[in-house]
Amino acid sequence: MKVSPSLLAADFMNLSEEVKRIKDSGCDYIHLDVMDGNFVPNISFGPGIISQLKQILDVPFDVHLMINNPRFYLNEFKKAGANYLTYHYEVSDNHHELIKEIKDLGMRAGLSIKPNTKVEEIVPYLNDLDLVLVMSVEPGFGGQKFMDSCLEKIKFLAEYKKEHGLSYQIEVDGGINYETAKLVKNAGVEIVVAGTYLFKGDMVKLVKELQAL
Ligand code: DX5
Ligand code: ZN
Repeated sequence: MKVSPSLLAADFMNLSEEVKRIKDSGCDYIHLDVMDGNFVPNISFGPGIISQLKQILDVPFDVHLMINNPRFYLNEFKKAGANYLTYHYEVSDNHHELIKEIKDLGMRAGLSIKPNTKVEEIVPYLNDLDLVLVMSVEPGFGGQKFMDSCLEKIKFLAEYKKEHGLSYQIEVDGGINYETAKLVKNAGVEIVVAGTYLFKGDMVKLVKELQAL
C-alpha cells in the first residue's frame, strides 16, 4: 500500500527536521491539508508554504483542498507544485468542468467525500478522476477517531473500478494507524494518509510497515 504522511501533524517549530524524517521514510507522497476556516472550522497553510516545501522535498505533492472556492486557486496550487489536486465534492461546483481544468493545468485530479456524503453521488465523475479521497473523519483536524463507515464506500469504489476498468486511485484520510490501515487495505484502499500516527512515532519504521500491508 502507498503512504502519504499528512504534514498537518508535523512539529512546525522543527520543520526542516520533519522534512528530513519524511525523506528518510521513503514515503510515496506527502499529503498537504489546505483549510480555509470556512469549508472547515480550522485554518492551516496555503500555496506559499507548499511552494517552499517543493524546493526541498522530492516526493509527489498530494494536496487536499478543504476550501469553499477551489476553482479560484487552481493556478496557485499548480504554481506551488501540486501533483495531485483534490477538492471536496460538497463545495458543489460544476465537477466535470473543474476536474477538466485541474487536468488541463497538468495536475492529477482528485475528488473527496466527507463521512456523510454517499459514494453513489460521485459515480458520474469516476471516469474522469485520477484519485478518490474517502474521508474517515470529519475534515478539519488531525488526531480524530477513525469512522468505519468509510469501509463500505471503499469497497464500492474498488468494485466499481474493477467492473468498469477505471484507473482512479482510492485513498483514505483520517484516524489511520496500523490496525485501521489493515481494515482499509482489505476494503480495497491503495493510498493511506496518516498524520498523528506517523509524526508522533518512528516514522521510518511505521511507513515501511504500512507499505508492506
Ligand atoms: C483532516 C485532514 C487529515 C489529517 C489526518 O481534515 O484531512 O489529512 O491530517 O490526520 P490523522 O492521521 O491524525 O487523523
Ligand atoms: Zn487530508
